[in-house]
Amino acid sequence: VSSTGRRPALDAASVLQTRSGNGGFESGESKDQCASDLTVEHSGTSKPKPDPSSLVFGKHFSDHMLTVHWSQQEGWGAPQITPFQNLSLHPASSALHYSIELFEGMKAFRGDDKHVRLFRPMLNMERMHRSAERSCLPLFDKAELLECIRRLVELDQEWVPYSCDASLYIRPTFIGTEPSLGVSRACHALLFVIVGPVGPYFATGSFNPVSLLADPKYVRAWRGGVGEFKIGGNYGPTIAVQHEANKLGCQQVLWLYGEQEEITEVGTMNIFIYWTTKDGGRELVTPPLDGIILPGVTRQSLLDLARQWGEFKVTERTVRMKELLAALDSGRVLEVFGSGTACVVCPVGSLLYRGKTYNIPTMKNGPHLAKRFYKELTDIQYGRVGSDWTMLVA
Ligand SMILES: Cc1ncc(COP(=O)(O)O)c(C=O)c1O
Repeated sequence: VSSTGRRPALDAASVLQTRSGNGGFESGESKDQCASDLTVEHSGTSKPKPDPSSLVFGKHFSDHMLTVHWSQQEGWGAPQITPFQNLSLHPASSALHYSIELFEGMKAFRGDDKHVRLFRPMLNMERMHRSAERSCLPLFDKAELLECIRRLVELDQEWVPYSCDASLYIRPTFIGTEPSLGVSRACHALLFVIVGPVGPYFATGSFNPVSLLADPKYVRAWRGGVGEFKIGGNYGPTIAVQHEANKLGCQQVLWLYGEQEEITEVGTMNIFIYWTTKDGGRELVTPPLDGIILPGVTRQSLLDLARQWGEFKVTERTVRMKELLAALDSGRVLEVFGSGTACVVCPVGSLLYRGKTYNIPTMKNGPHLAKRFYKELTDIQYGRVGSDWTMLVA
């Protein structure tokens, strides 16, 4: 149910399509339990809530969490909301050894009208479902999981900050808990969801451009690999590269791929380039979903908005480093920005590549487009504008 009472039509048409499969939370498996079997154990007391102006990402958690156990023999157990607590895992659990782990990142927003909304949550469920399929973890019914998440957020709704630049981060996670060191499919698994308040990405309240390290010797994802899935194994190995970027005075990594040095993503964001084409037209370009790009919900939303506006060309195609540098050299680049749930959009100010720093005139150009995207999306998320993209929590 959307805030306008209609189905999110644009989501259904998006490229983030679901694939069929069988497994837990799935209709047809009668032993599987579903959202209507959910039990709630209240925490009794509520922890003190941090001041929204001093929130550090990922450090604060609400009073409750959701867990759902699965086993090959029993199927999906009843979803449980319990007080937030540590997990107890067998030390041989496959998530700990072979990274049979996947996750999602989404947010709930407290609108100006005080209502709490989720933003295009079915796109996260669909992406999570694809990650589960690729991880050989059991499949689940996306609508059932979303309903369980809605119930958790509803219960902990006082944790959604009363602030128009903070939100409640939602972290659905799915791990293999097979108690065996055999490298094989997990016959036991645990799906859990934790939530916590997060502050604005830009602490100062205004857009701050980031500097990027583009070093072709580091690769985040490759064709035939798993870069398009949100699985833990894609993220751990990036931390050393991020550290290297920081040591060189850069804030994020621009991930390149292959001999042609294709531009793929920036940090944990999708990348957009807005420029003047050689024939003088305006174009917004982002790499295509060809297996090495994480299909971002924000990416999809920016593409949908830009196509609705119809004011400039919107293209999903491969852009190579050489092409970006040539465009910078001829003064055709207007804005470069990342997109993601954390920041919505994040302007890029410079690029360190093969020992040379290239300035990118994103801020000099407003950044008009990045700011427009930010306003349009946050107006929807905080309920200032009615949209089929939001779902009311209560
Ligand atoms: C590698 C990567 N790219 C892009 C994104 C942006 O995706 P979204 O817009 O769904 O947050 C993320 C964050 O989830 C990511 O981890």
